[in-house]
Amino acid sequence: MPHFIAPSLLSANFRNLQKDVEMVNRSEADWFHLDVMDGVFVPNISFGLPVIESIKEIATKPFDVHLMIVEPDRYIERFRQAGADIISVHAEACIHLHRSVSLIKGTGAKAGVVLNPHSTVNLLADIIADADMVLLMSVNPGFGGQKFIRNTYIKVRELRELILRKNSSALIEIDGGVSLENAEQLVEAGADILVAGNTVFNSSNPEGMISKLKNF
Ligand code: DX5
Ligand code: ZN
Repeated sequence: MPHFIAPSLLSANFRNLQKDVEMVNRSEADWFHLDVMDGVFVPNISFGLPVIESIKEIATKPFDVHLMIVEPDRYIERFRQAGADIISVHAEACIHLHRSVSLIKGTGAKAGVVLNPHSTVNLLADIIADADMVLLMSVNPGFGGQKFIRNTYIKVRELRELILRKNSSALIEIDGGVSLENAEQLVEAGADILVAGNTVFNSSNPEGMISKLKNF
């Protein structure tokens, strides 16, 4: 498939979210990426259910919800009700990851599993066949605008091999420090979806930047 672009609203203008949501609606982006942080799993607090629910009313593309929270099982159903189409949980935050993935799928949403930069893709060998997506963090989660970790290129290739070996149909998403400098190389390595926050929203022409990330 041609790769997808998922702008992260973490870097949008919170004073006028509607304007940025409408820009993404108009753009060549495929999904909205929504970063939920609890100040415990990551050292930052972003936004949660009420914000997602309210932008769902005006957004015209699928919601890719990235939960950076402890005990995500407690909130999966409510994020689905708020409008999440894909719900991703961190392997590091789930003691019973298989149960969390099953819970997500039980709501009718697609299930994603996220790995922090230090977590090896081999951790996923026995869950990859059940996951709809794997999100590889290419920065330490918590903040936008950080520097891309280059070891991610190797991880994408390892993950692609694992997916093939296990006959999984999981998509590969990359999140953190994605820019025009690394986008093409990431897709070549096997990435299906690129998340971009800072690169899109701090550009002088966000819609044009989405188009550049989509077409190279
Ligand atoms: C970081 C979040 C990212 C973040 C990416 O914890 O998961 O989605 O918004 O931002 P950039 O693209 O600026 O690195
Ligand atoms: Zn994210």
